[in-house]
Amino acid sequence: MKIAIASDHGGYHYKEIIVAYLKALGHVTQDFGCDSDASVDYPDYAHLVCNEVADQGFDCGILICGTGIGMSMAANRNPKIRAGLCKDVETAQLTRQHNDANVLCLGARVTDINNIKSIVDAFLDTDFEGGRHEKRLKKF
Ligand code: RB5
Repeated sequence: MKIAIASDHGGYHYKEIIVAYLKALGHVTQDFGCDSDASVDYPDYAHLVCNEVADQGFDCGILICGTGIGMSMAANRNPKIRAGLCKDVETAQLTRQHNDANVLCLGARVTDINNIKSIVDAFLDTDFEGGRHEKRLKKF
């Protein structure tokens, strides 16, 4: 898959781990920053990734901040983005199955580093179920 990824300073270290993991799996990734743990503004990075995903240049996006909340709020301002904030494998699967999420949001301060690869796997490996969920997405 072609995946756009970004973080703020709070998610920087998780982003580095996830980028390396995605590359090892053979995915094409583009890292939109940030490039250190120096303080930045998370909406700037959310918009960079979401513009790319909305233009369909990427299959999906991943955004990481301290809680994942700010990134998900900013991402969902884009009408073509369905961003799901996920803290575990179950929410990552469900946001694909039910919400057809095209952006995964993660909170580095609130998510166990040992679970991060499993959560990413669940998001990338799960398909949208369609059916009754399609009707609901049209009401967004
Ligand atoms: C940055 O301090 C922090 O507010 C940010 O990473 C995120 O948690 C916002 O929702």
